[in-house]
Amino acid sequence: MSSSQQTSPVAVVTGGARGIGLAIGQWFLAHGHKVVLLDNDQATLDSTEKTLHRPDDVLCLHADVSQPDQVQAAADQVLERFGRVDALVNNAGVAVFKPALETTFQEWRHVLSTNLDGAFLCSQAFGAIMARQRSGAIVNIASISGLRASTLRVAYGTSKAALIHLTKQHAAELGNYGVRVNVICPGPVETEMAKLVHSVAIRSDYYDTIPLGRYGSTEEMANTVGFLCSSQASFINGQYLAVDGGFDASGVGLPTLRRNTPELNDVGQSGSHA
Ligand SMILES: NC(=O)c1ccc[n+]([C@@H]2O[C@H](COP(=O)([O-])OP(=O)(O)OC[C@H]3O[C@@H](n4cnc5c(N)ncnc54)[C@H](O)[C@@H]3O)[C@@H](O)[C@H]2O)c1
Repeated sequence: MSSSQQTSPVAVVTGGARGIGLAIGQWFLAHGHKVVLLDNDQATLDSTEKTLHRPDDVLCLHADVSQPDQVQAAADQVLERFGRVDALVNNAGVAVFKPALETTFQEWRHVLSTNLDGAFLCSQAFGAIMARQRSGAIVNIASISGLRASTLRVAYGTSKAALIHLTKQHAAELGNYGVRVNVICPGPVETEMAKLVHSVAIRSDYYDTIPLGRYGSTEEMANTVGFLCSSQASFINGQYLAVDGGFDASGVGLPTLRRNTPELNDVGQSGSHA
């Protein structure tokens, strides 16, 4: 470990080989961090490592977040290489969209073990390092599916709702060591995961239902995570932030009611100044 490495903050991003996780890793790189990308997809991790081409600043680790021994081994390697951890982003996740009565126990366990056990294990292994430092920030990546129930998401939605509560549990305890823990709930974002589970009809429904009328970008997620890990957010702990174009706020956002939104030309023409 060189002295320049000691002074750079270090961010660990799980599921960092692609998608939202990779964008978060790139945000940290652009903001002067050493970055650890941890993923269980060796091939994608290898190609990402090649594309980034920052061997001094990026450590790619092949590990499955649902396996305690692999997570602990990864934490040991990060400590060995960089000597500290300033941010952990629990982003690794999988989605299975199936009716509740048809979801197998194996599918349930696959989703819960990745999305929930993974965050528990990583927060414990990397959180212990931050607690010893008396500083650091953890951001979990949940989903609007953890805020609102919907059909086909018995495992995914439950895992994300539990992750939101896990965030508060960790905030309550790790806050005592100066470690902040928050969670973001993305709306739909164009990634490989979205390609897998969002049909054409689902996409069009999202456009109809989200007040901003579009999908979010991976960069918009990364900007929010970066802010929550930064000193700008130094008194924010145990909070969830929906990054969803207004989906969660719109409650009874029925498409019929939305279609009744007045054209901009008509706004304010009724004579009311209220
Ligand atoms: N894309 C969306 O619309 C959306 C919306 C809300 C929330 N999210 C959440 O954002 C996060 C990232 O999603 P994405 O869309 O970038 O998905 P993605 O499938 O493109 O990327 C997920 C990454 O996690 C890795 N991963 C999966 N299981 C793992 C494990 N056990 N151990 C280590 N790595 C593992 C995958 O290999 C992959 O690189 C997920 O937690 C997802 O639930 C995504």
